[in-house]
Amino acid sequence: MIDKADSLLDAPVAPAAAAEAPPPAIAVVDLVSVLDGRPVLDGVSFDVPRGKTLVIMGPSGCGKTTLLRHLIGSMRPTRGRVELLGHNLGELAERDLEAVRRRFGILFQSGALFNSMTVAENVALPLREHTRLDAATIDVIVKMKLELVNLRAAANRMPAEISGGMKKRAGLARAIALDPEVLFYDEPSAGLDPVTSAEIDQLIIDLTDKLGVTSVVVTHEMDSAFRVADTMVMLDEGKVLRTGARQEFQLLRDGPPTGDRASDLIRQFLTGSSHGPITDRRLSGGYADDILMAAGRAGRPLWTGWR
Ligand SMILES: Nc1ncnc2c1ncn2[C@@H]1O[C@H](COP(=O)(O)OP(=O)(O)O)[C@@H](O)[C@H]1O
Ligand SMILES: [Mg+2]
Repeated sequence: MIDKADSLLDAPVAPAAAAEAPPPAIAVVDLVSVLDGRPVLDGVSFDVPRGKTLVIMGPSGCGKTTLLRHLIGSMRPTRGRVELLGHNLGELAERDLEAVRRRFGILFQSGALFNSMTVAENVALPLREHTRLDAATIDVIVKMKLELVNLRAAANRMPAEISGGMKKRAGLARAIALDPEVLFYDEPSAGLDPVTSAEIDQLIIDLTDKLGVTSVVVTHEMDSAFRVADTMVMLDEGKVLRTGARQEFQLLRDGPPTGDRASDLIRQFLTGSSHGPITDRRLSGGYADDILMAAGRAGRPLWTGWR
């Protein structure tokens, strides 16, 4: 009897609590990714609330790109799970994964435009491939997308005829062609001058506001990270060192060293200082490890027998 009374009392509470906290756009739960017998990601967990921007950062080789590949479902977890828009990506059949892929856009590092097509044709491509819209409608949508990234005037230019910043914007127009709910950015400011980089950041912020999308940005650029982030994840050697609001990381960056190793490691990374736990570790690390790590970064492991 008492059990029943309890459950009746509890009943109205559950839906109210659910209304307070809508499910996140992305949930990563204890993600482990073993590559070549080595855990490249080791128990990574975090959420990205809908409409917010998460920045993923960390030293070279810490697993950022691998994490991004898991988030877009191009790699399957060894353990743990990645939930994107309510779907557990590791459990989806390829066809269902394809349907989820239509709901997100990716801006690749180089913009990844097709050089034989005009800017407008590049943006039209996903619409031609994934919708049955007629040519005139596609034309209108392409113009709207180009307007959103301030590139309408360059619609008929070839990729070779536009600057690096314009290529990024064209790539972004293509990434938003199908009205994605989530946008992934891989190093959006790599190779751009500081002013162009700031323009791209502003565009990321504007698009997040205007389109209400959830964004995940992988970046090395700390100025850029602090401009666009709502929340941040700091990775180190495949593990989450810390995850939190941008303001928390700002306090760490601007404050004095604390003596706590994790905090000081994050602080060294954020300030770009040449002294701290990251460099100490490198100096005490084996020469062979260093060489293998450098080779790994270049995409050519010399020898992986020790792993
Ligand atoms: N396909 C793979 N097979 C084996 N090792 C990999 C593979 N991809 C990445 N790695 C290794 O995983 C680590 C993390 O790589 P990555 O995710 O590219 O780091 P980041 O993007 O942070 O620089 C590196 O040591 C890299 O050599
Ligand atoms: Mg990378």
